[in-house]
Amino acid sequence: MTLEIRQSCKSDRPEIENIHIKAFGEQKGPEIADLVRGLLDDNTAIPILSLVAIENEKIIGHILFTKVKIIQTTEPVTAQILAPLAVLPDFQGKGVGNKLIQEGLNQLKQSGVELVFVLGHADYYPRSGFTPAGILGYEAPYHIPEEHAGAWMVQELRSGVIGRVKGKVLCSEVLNQPQHWRE
Ligand SMILES: CC(C)(COP(=O)(O)OP(=O)(O)OC[C@H]1O[C@@H](n2cnc3c(N)ncnc32)[C@H](O)[C@@H]1OP(=O)(O)O)[C@@H](O)C(=O)NCCC(=O)NCCS
Repeated sequence: MTLEIRQSCKSDRPEIENIHIKAFGEQKGPEIADLVRGLLDDNTAIPILSLVAIENEKIIGHILFTKVKIIQTTEPVTAQILAPLAVLPDFQGKGVGNKLIQEGLNQLKQSGVELVFVLGHADYYPRSGFTPAGILGYEAPYHIPEEHAGAWMVQELRSGVIGRVKGKVLCSEVLNQPQHWRE
């Protein structure tokens, strides 16, 4: 596979929305495509990192990171949240998701981001270095039921931040809507 990963541009938007619709399915897909559209236009989400994976000139995967604030903390910290991530069904299971995550984390680290959060599959994201966040003192914007606690995860990009900094995570206006925090 000759995969290229680059930052997305405005003309990629229809293809990006299509990827989320195909990957998340008919029921959930349109809602996720709306979320992506909203986040890409959300001024409170800046800085945004939006990456696409390209195979043979076709966009086959997309990942989005947006800004979060940590409040009720003793120390200011720069943080982002990964949401959402999708790979076209025909290209899943080939490492594209993992490559998008790793490239995103590399770029965020270079720009000085210290923590990255994700709410997602508890069995998938630990493969990319994420670990449950609640137990480490990071409260999600909305209560996460005990049985889903493992889905709220964090990863540090600067060593020593986890353990020293705790607090409550506030997302951008669009992502901070309660419907994005339900099952
Ligand atoms: C989740 C997703 C982005 C993974 O992308 P991908 O390119 O297939 O992932 P990778 O190739 O890097 O990793 C594949 C591995 O992850 C596993 N995996 C995929 N989805 C998983 C899930 N929901 N839970 C646990 N493991 C999962 C696969 O079984 C595979 O395991 P293997 O390497 O042991 O065979 C992709 O399956 C997708 O778009 N799914 C639908 C949308 C979605 O759920 N997005 C994430 C929201 S939190």
